[in-house]
Amino acid sequence: MDHFIYKTGVLHAEDVAIPEIAAAVGSPFYVYSTATLQRHYQVFEDALKGMDHLICYAMKANSNQAVLKIMADMGAGMDVVSGGEYARAIAAGVSPDKIVFSGVGKTAGEMEMALQGGIRQFNVESEPELLVLGAVATRMGKLANITLRVNPDVDAKTHAKIATGKSDNKFGIPMVKAREAYAQAASLSGIKVVGIDVHIGSQLTDLAPYEAAFTKVAELTEQLRGDGHNITRLDLGGGLGIPYQRDNSAPPLPIEYGEVIRRTVGHLGCEIEIEPGRLIAGNAGLMVSSVIYVKQGAERKFLIIDAAMNDLIRPAMYEAYHDIIPVIEPAAGIEPQPIDIVGPVCESGDTFATQRLMPELKSDDLVAFRSAGAYGAVMASEYNSRPLIPEVLVSGDQFAVVRPRPTYADMISRDITPPWM
Ligand code: LLP
Repeated sequence: MDHFIYKTGVLHAEDVAIPEIAAAVGSPFYVYSTATLQRHYQVFEDALKGMDHLICYAMKANSNQAVLKIMADMGAGMDVVSGGEYARAIAAGVSPDKIVFSGVGKTAGEMEMALQGGIRQFNVESEPELLVLGAVATRMGKLANITLRVNPDVDAKTHAKIATGKSDNKFGIPMVKAREAYAQAASLSGIKVVGIDVHIGSQLTDLAPYEAAFTKVAELTEQLRGDGHNITRLDLGGGLGIPYQRDNSAPPLPIEYGEVIRRTVGHLGCEIEIEPGRLIAGNAGLMVSSVIYVKQGAERKFLIIDAAMNDLIRPAMYEAYHDIIPVIEPAAGIEPQPIDIVGPVCESGDTFATQRLMPELKSDDLVAFRSAGAYGAVMASEYNSRPLIPEVLVSGDQFAVVRPRPTYADMISRDITPPWM
C-alpha cells in the first residue's frame, strides 16, 4: 500500500496534487511519501515483533538525507556500503552503534573512518579483508566487531545482475570455508567475532530461497558455537521484493518473511538484523515526467518524455518493469493503445516500456512512474549533460524540495580546465 492515489481525477502524493509540485519544481522530478516510508518501516517492525532485532535500512536504495532522517526517527539502523554512505548516515543523525558496514571491497580508509566514528559491526566478505581490518583496528587500538558474510550457494531466483547468493557470485565466503575463516578471525588481534551475515539477492519474490539460506545459517551457528565462537547476532540481509506490476504480482509479505525468520533461526537466541532497502523506499516514490512529443514512427508510436535512462536506469539495466500512469486519471471507457515510452537520450536503450497500453496523451501531459523510490535517484547520472532531477518529499499537505535540480552552471563548474589551457 502507498499514498499515491487519484483524488477527484488527479494523482496525489498524500494530500498534495502532483501537478502542483510539477508547477513548482518543473519536470521531471522524484517525489517521496513520508507516510509510506514510515508505514513500510513499521511493517518490518511488526514482522519481527517479539524477537530481539534491529532493522538496518539498506540506504543504497535511497540515501537522501530527508529519507534517512525519517528512518532514523523511526529507530532504524543503517546498512552502509561505502565511506560516503557512512558519512551520510552520521549526517542524518543515525547512532554509530546502529550502523552495519557491508560490501565486498571496503578499503582500509573506509575501515578507519568507521572505527574512528564508531560502528556496530563490519560484515566481512573475505579473508584478505579480515586481515586488513585486523591490522587497521590493531593500529588504532580498537576492537572491530565482525560477522563473516557467508555465501550459502542458494539460487535467489531473481535477475542475474542482483542475485548474490550463488557460489559463482563475488559475494561472501563459501559455506565450506566458513569454519576455517572464523578460526582465523578469532585468532586476530583487533577483531571480535559477533555473528554471521548472509544476503542472497534483491527483489526476491519467493520465500523458499530465504528458508534454504537461513536454515544453512542456523546449522552454521550451531557448528560455530561448538567450535567455541560467541555467535550472538545474525544479519540476514535484505532483498524482499515489491510488486512492480500492480495488477499482476503479489510478492510475499514482510509478515510471512518474519515467519520464515522465526522458524529457521528463532530458536538460537540471537539478535536478528535485517537490511531491507527496496521494500521500504521502492513504492514510497514516483518519478514524474512530462510528454515532450508523441511521434508516429514507421511501425510504432512513441511517447517521448522528458525523463530518460540517466534519471531512472532500471528498465535499461535490468529490463525492469515500472507501472507508468497518467497524472490526470483517464475518463472511463477510453480504450488504451500500445505505445513505446522513451526518453530523449541518444541510445535505443533509453526505452522505459515497449508497446505499453496507455490512454491517449499529448505534449505537456504528466505521467508518473510507480515504484521509483528505490534505486531511482541514487543510480541517476548526468549522461548527455542532463542535470540530476530534483527530489521532493511530501508529508500530509506539505511538500519540500529535498534535493534541488542543479543549474547548467552548477554542472559545468564541477569541471576544471587545466592551467596550461
Ligand atoms: N544488504 C546487502 C548486503 C545488499 O547488497 C543489498 C542490495 C541490500 C541489503 C538491500 O536489498 P533490497 O532490500 O533493497 O533488495 N540496483 C538494483 C538493486 C541492487 C541491490 C543491491 N544490494 C535494482 O535497481 O534492482
